[in-house]
Amino acid sequence: MHPLRSLGVLWLLPVALMLKENCVPRKSVPYHSNNALQFGEQGVSNYSTMLLREDLDLLVLGAREAVFALHLSNISNKQASVKWEVTPTQVKECENKGKDRETECKNYIRILHKMKDGRMFVCGTNAFDPECDYLRYKNGELTFDKAGEDGKGKCPFDPFQRYASIMVDDDLFSATSMNFLGSEPILTRSSPGYIRTEFKTSWLQEPNFVSMTWMPESEQSKEGDDDKVYLFFSETAVEFDCYNKLVVPRVARVCKGDLGGQRTLQKKWTSFLKTRINCPVLNSKLPYVIQDSYLWCDFKLPWQNCIIFAIFTPQSDLSDLSAVCAYSMSDISKVFSEGNYKTPVPVGTSFVKWVMYSGEVPVPRPGACINNEARKLGITQSLELPDRTLQFVKDKPLMDQAVEPIEGEPLLIRRGATFTRIIVNQVQAADGQKYHVMFIATEEGTMLKAVNYDGEMFIIEEVQLFQPPQPIKIVIFSNVTGQIYAGSDSGAAQIPLASCERSSSCVDCVLARDPYCGWDTTDEKCVLLSSSQRELIQSVTQGNASLCPVADPVQPVSLSTRPGGELKLSCPSPSHLTNVRWEQNNNVLTFSPRQQILPDALIILNATISDSGRYRCLSVERSKAGEFSTTVADYQVSIDPTDTGNKGLTSVSQPLTDSLSIAGLQAAVALLVISLTALLAWNFYKKHIPLPWKCWTAQNSSSDNNHVVEAGHSFIQKGVIT
Ligand SMILES: *[C@@H]1O[C@H](CO)[C@@H](O)[C@H](O)[C@H]1NC(C)=O
Ligand SMILES: *[C@@H]1O[C@H](CO)[C@@H](O)[C@H](O)[C@H]1NC(C)=O
Ligand SMILES: *[C@@H]1O[C@H](CO)[C@@H](O)[C@H](O)[C@H]1NC(C)=O
Repeated sequence: MHPLRSLGVLWLLPVALMLKENCVPRKSVPYHSNNALQFGEQGVSNYSTMLLREDLDLLVLGAREAVFALHLSNISNKQASVKWEVTPTQVKECENKGKDRETECKNYIRILHKMKDGRMFVCGTNAFDPECDYLRYKNGELTFDKAGEDGKGKCPFDPFQRYASIMVDDDLFSATSMNFLGSEPILTRSSPGYIRTEFKTSWLQEPNFVSMTWMPESEQSKEGDDDKVYLFFSETAVEFDCYNKLVVPRVARVCKGDLGGQRTLQKKWTSFLKTRINCPVLNSKLPYVIQDSYLWCDFKLPWQNCIIFAIFTPQSDLSDLSAVCAYSMSDISKVFSEGNYKTPVPVGTSFVKWVMYSGEVPVPRPGACINNEARKLGITQSLELPDRTLQFVKDKPLMDQAVEPIEGEPLLIRRGATFTRIIVNQVQAADGQKYHVMFIATEEGTMLKAVNYDGEMFIIEEVQLFQPPQPIKIVIFSNVTGQIYAGSDSGAAQIPLASCERSSSCVDCVLARDPYCGWDTTDEKCVLLSSSQRELIQSVTQGNASLCPVADPVQPVSLSTRPGGELKLSCPSPSHLTNVRWEQNNNVLTFSPRQQILPDALIILNATISDSGRYRCLSVERSKAGEFSTTVADYQVSIDPTDTGNKGLTSVSQPLTDSLSIAGLQAAVALLVISLTALLAWNFYKKHIPLPWKCWTAQNSSSDNNHVVEAGHSFIQKGVIT
């Protein structure tokens, strides 16, 4: 099942090399009710729309035929709920049109936006007859205005069809399908004044809308530019003629204040431009398809510094890779404001080829917002744009150049559960550097936490949030509570940015390379950096566990069996990146028919006197700083010829858990030998002064990192217990 696990003890390949091709989470956290705070209501499903109401301390959650108001700091606490069910007449009509009564002819909440007056704008599919309404939260109750507003062009008809929407200054921008059949894709602005895309395949061709974002580009703009709305989607390409139907990922954008043209493009966008976005995954020939995007901005910096993180999956079923690529907003914006256009050129009678347009470009620039340059020409709104400019953008909405990812390659590539959603948070680690931590939801109900450390992809953990495994449909983040909220068909979950307590030893805490967590030597706990006043041990880029103090040795557990008996010595592996090694009387055990090494245990079959002795299980984990081995378990095995009893498999798991927690995992300094005196001196030092970890980094960087030394071991060997 697990590629690294199946290689078991024989796995000796350098981790870094493997990670390039297939990034394995360091830890997999199986489902447990403690993994997340949960919400779900009996009889209600499809929790896939969310709105943060930080002003009201609420998470507003849209599901099938219901909206919930949950407490923002603990979503298990429901504050209010309201139903929005379809009437029997509507179900009948929907059924008559050939839709399924139990699934399609329901009201799936699809749009939830906050209005300036505090109300919420809500739309639902409403049995294939989309409708919108206004929702108020007052005196602990949710109530609809019952406005019965037509949802066509705002909300999808089909609950299975993807859509995107955003509300800017009470104006709704929506990308969805206009008709019952789902065959008329549009990007609209509902107010002030309804504006939409042209029905032309060169504008939108069988698109799958993914996400929308707004950029305050008018702020301090020297060009007197307008704000823009960006739309991420994938669609059937017009520009490639080598494939029958090739899907490409796209970004399109429109100007917020676009009013359409006077004659040409009347009530249509005069600023709709689109281009291809590129996420080159290994050597895939077919472009990967975008599935979600997340806008990350540093609010202290201008919008050009914002970054779009996007998830990509293959368009063929032949691969199970998913990837994350990041794009700078300034790169995206430049393609539209400065790039060349593509133009269709007829080839023969029935075929057109899209090539770069090298002719004269009209003024004002086609697709540009009304800016100072246009105003100088006496054009103050899009209605005054000349026909030449409008005709150009109507015919050529596609830019020639694709947007390339930052660094030219994906931040993360992973084989396994398909990525569905992403959010990104920036954190300052103990080294003073800021890192973007990616939280990626999957088809299998898990959340990955990953960081790209200077080009090295690293997945800290994969946590199972929903059981049974099911796709995560939405993920949002509140910078007020610092919590992540996820929704699936069966419920919603809330998780913090970090659960440092999952690491119970210093070595595990440091090798986890979680920028939120560090080891507190005083309390002997892995804790949140942000909640601690002390200096903590952390080494995110190197994973240098030699910074850890020497842990207490593991207490050996005594076991005995009769000759011919069987024994199971368990040794739970702390992470997927470890290589487990067994030693008998300090000699490394290799596979033999009677001594079988499993990923989490050693089985001794048909015991003989020669099997008695000291057994130790070491887990060896490699990081950039070297290899670190920790004693996970220690056994004193005796084979007793007088024992005639119990024939069964003797299994010890209880004492083991104890020894694990007593010992923690011991650090191995990446030196070949540590003198006993140095260790004693270090212990003495540690008791009085907190650990100055930076000094230790410097000291270790000069040492030979390729050798394994098991520090705790020397204590046991020499019989010194501190
Ligand atoms: C969240 O709320 C639930 C239900 O009231 C409660 O059982 C749980 O202890 C709360 N959890 C936290 C972390 O506050
Ligand atoms: C709604 O949830 C059910 C499972 O409860 C699932 O089978 C169905 O596909 C979901 N519908 C949509 C439109 O997501
Ligand atoms: C949280 O995000 C909002 C925008 O979504 C921003 O205006 C605000 O400054 C952020 N707050 C913090 C504490 O970062």
